Amino acid sequence: MTPTWVQLAYLACAVCFILALKGLSGPRTARAGNLLGAAAAVVACAIPFVHLDLDHVPLILGAIAVGTGVGVLGARRVRMTQMPQMVALFNGVGGGAAALVALLELAHMISVADRLGVDPYNWFVYAATAFTIVVGAVSFSGSAVTFAKLQELMSARPVVFPGLPIAFAVALLAAVALSVLTVTAPALWVGIVLAVLGLAIGVLLVLPVGGADVPIVISLLNAFTGLTVAAGGYVLGSTVLLVAGTLVGAAGTFLTLLMARAMGRSVAHILFGALRGGSTLGAGEASDRPVRSAGPDDVAILLGYASRVIIVPGYGLAVAQAQHTLRELVDVLGARGVGVDYAIHPVAGRMPGHMNVLLAEAQVPYEQLKEMDDINGEFVHTDVVLVVGANDVVNPAARTSPDAPIYGMPILDADHARQIVFMKRSMRPGFAGIENELLFDPKTTLLFGDAKDTLGKLLSAVKAL
Ligand code: TAP
Repeated sequence: MTPTWVQLAYLACAVCFILALKGLSGPRTARAGNLLGAAAAVVACAIPFVHLDLDHVPLILGAIAVGTGVGVLGARRVRMTQMPQMVALFNGVGGGAAALVALLELAHMISVADRLGVDPYNWFVYAATAFTIVVGAVSFSGSAVTFAKLQELMSARPVVFPGLPIAFAVALLAAVALSVLTVTAPALWVGIVLAVLGLAIGVLLVLPVGGADVPIVISLLNAFTGLTVAAGGYVLGSTVLLVAGTLVGAAGTFLTLLMARAMGRSVAHILFGALRGGSTLGAGEASDRPVRSAGPDDVAILLGYASRVIIVPGYGLAVAQAQHTLRELVDVLGARGVGVDYAIHPVAGRMPGHMNVLLAEAQVPYEQLKEMDDINGEFVHTDVVLVVGANDVVNPAARTSPDAPIYGMPILDADHARQIVFMKRSMRPGFAGIENELLFDPKTTLLFGDAKDTLGKLLSAVKAL
C-alpha cells in the first residue's frame, strides 16, 4: 500500500504539472512554468528512492546521471533553429523508454502468474501493456526518422515506394492481432514482436511525410508518447505517470490540430497526403526571373519617411540571429515617429511560438507583437511591409493556387500594403519549396543579404537620415 504522504506528494507534483502548462501558455509566465514543471519532475523521480526498497540503485543513478548529462549538454548546445529536432529526440526517447518499461512489466506479470498458478491481472492491464509497447515503439522510431529528416541526415522530401501502403496496413493489422494475443495468451515473445512491429510502423508512418509537414508529425508523435506514458502509468499503478502522460497527450493533440489548422491542412492529409501524391515537397529551385532590388540607403528612405510600417519576421530572422538588430531598427523608427508593429504568423519559423520567443529574447514589448487575425486588416493602411527572412507566410499562392502545397494556409496580407520590402539572401524559395509571386510584384523591392548584416546597414542608414 502506498503511504499517504507519497500519494499527497505525487498529487502535488501532478498539480504543478498542470500549473506549469498554464504558465507555458504565455510569454511572461513561460520561464516560471518551465521551472515549476521541471522541479515537480525532479521531485516525482526522487520519491521512489525514499519510500521504496529499490534494487540496482547505483545502476539507476548512473543511468540518470548519463541522461542528465546528455540532456543538459544537448539543450545548451542546440540552436534555436534546431529546436524541433531536439523536441523530436527527447520525445522519441520518452516513447522508447515507456515501451521498454512495458516489456519488462509484461515479463514480470507473466512470471508472477506462473509462480501463483493463477493470473492476478485483468485483461485491461495486458491491453494497456500491449498499447504501451506498440505505440511507444512507433513514437521512438517515428521520432528518429523525423530527427533525421530535419537534421538533413536524409532527404526531407516524402519517401514513398511501391507497396508502402500495403506494408503499412499489414504491419498495423499484425500489431492489432498480436495485441489481442497479448491479452488472451500473454507471452514475452509476443511483446518483443509487437515492439519490432511498432518500430516498423513508426518508420512507415513518417517516411511519406515531407517538407513543411514534418514539425506537425513531431507534435503528433509527442501526443503518442503522452498516451503511451499514461497507459504505462496505468500498468504500473502510478498516478503521477498517468496524469503527466495524459497532459502530454492532450497538449500534443491540441498542438497538432492547431498547427494543422494554421497551415490549412488536415492531419489525415499530412500523414497520408504523399501516398495520394499531394504532400508538401520541400526544398525547391532558385528562380532566375528578374526582380527589383535596392540597397540599404534606398530602403532606409522608404522606412524613415513612412508613417506606418509592419515587420513580418520569419525563419530567416532566426537563422541570422538578427532579432536584436531588428529591435534596434524598430526603436529608431519609433523615435522618428513611425508607427511600427510586428505581424506574427502562427507558423512563422519552424515551431509554434518561434517568433514570439525570438523577439521576446530581444526585449521587444509584447504589445508590438500582433497576431495574424488582428493585424491582417491593417495592411491596406500600411506604407511599407518589411519582410525579414519570411516567405511562405506571405505567399499569395496560399489563396490562389489550388496546386500549391500551402494552398488553404491562412497568410499575412502583406500584398495589400503600398510597398513591400523582402530581406533575404537569394531567390531560393521558403520551406514549402514554391515560388512566391509577391517577389515579382511591381510594389516589391528586394534587399539581398544575410538579415543580420543588412539590418545593421539599414540601421546605420536610418540613423543617418
Ligand atoms: P520560409 O518560408 O521558410 O522562408 C524563410 C526565408 O528566410 C527564405 O526566403 C530564406 O531565403 C530566408 N532566409 C534564410 N536564412 C536567411 C538569412 N540568414 N538572412 C536572410 N534571410 C534568410 O519561412 P516562414 O515564412 O517563416 O514560413 C515558415 C514555414 O515553415 C512555412 O512553410 C510553415 O508552414 C513551415 N512550418 C512551420 C511550422 C511552425 S509551427 N512554425 C511548423 C511546420 C512547418 P534565402 O534562402 O534566399 O535567404
